[in-house]
Amino acid sequence: MDKLHETAVALVAEGKGILAADESEGTIKKRFDSISVESTEENRRAYRELLFATEGAEDYISGVILFDETIRQSAQDRTPFPKLLESKGIIPGIKVDKGAKPLANAQGETVTEGLDGLRGRLEEYRDLGARFAKWRATYTITDDLPSDYAIWTNAHALARYAALCEEAGLVPIVEPEVLMDGTHSIERSFIVTSRVLGAVYTELFDQKVRLEGTLLKPNMVLSGYDASDRASAEEVAEWTLKCFRRHVPAAVPGIVFLSGGQSDEDATAHLNAMNKLGPHPWQLSFSYGRALQAPALKAWGGKAENVDAARRAYYHRAKMNSAARTGMYAPEMEKDAVPA
Ligand code: 13P
Repeated sequence: MDKLHETAVALVAEGKGILAADESEGTIKKRFDSISVESTEENRRAYRELLFATEGAEDYISGVILFDETIRQSAQDRTPFPKLLESKGIIPGIKVDKGAKPLANAQGETVTEGLDGLRGRLEEYRDLGARFAKWRATYTITDDLPSDYAIWTNAHALARYAALCEEAGLVPIVEPEVLMDGTHSIERSFIVTSRVLGAVYTELFDQKVRLEGTLLKPNMVLSGYDASDRASAEEVAEWTLKCFRRHVPAAVPGIVFLSGGQSDEDATAHLNAMNKLGPHPWQLSFSYGRALQAPALKAWGGKAENVDAARRAYYHRAKMNSAARTGMYAPEMEKDAVPA
């Protein structure tokens, strides 16, 4: 088995998924604001150490996505974070895009930047211990958007990024995120997600990316968060699977969903509903940011005396999502959480 395929398969190992802890400086500030904690470099470091050093999380977590600042930081005992993760058998990864910026001549749409100089940055990240990378494109749903122009421009950039990762020996996680803000129906979400994935896999094919060494990180197909009649977990599973069966080649080892603003328990229930309908051509797993961290962040509140409670909260969510990997999750299991 070649190296990239081996790493991709390890990231979607049975019962395991990915922790996205790659919030940019702006995003982590927003998260810290919600618990009234100042976003200083030391607070960010302490919070990430809390997560990464949680004992036993490695039973459910295969990899962690880091941010540029975080991959250069260390635990209190001076162990660099990538080394700390490796020592637990967790694979370190890195966010390499430079964010979604306004797309010229496309009112209200974005293109993700960061291709210039990417070859050199990937080499540096690999030397710092990263074995996989992530690039996120975003698409907004309205009655007329996303445009074909935004869909194809972002697909082209995602494929250029993926090809450079392959060259550098890093597994590219390809992340096209159709945002679920709005009042749209689940049918509209299905149509847009289908168009986006169709373009992404066309570009990956044209740019000769070996799909066996990649992972897809997509949105689930949901009703808009403000829709009046929102689809059930079973409907979400059916629409999402129908979409992915049509558009994601079986050569892709795994689909690792983002949570995208769903509640943590919804994100778990949706993944569980899909895996209940398995087996599927690819592993169906998670690469959650908010849905793995929200209860831990709240329990921590920036206080050293709360670290243990925060770790219990993170461990519990990781365990619930691990159960959802095999369709064995049930809401009653939430009661097993050790109170914070
Ligand atoms: P969420 O699960 O909070 O959407 O974050 C995942 C992620 O990495 C977004 O790029």
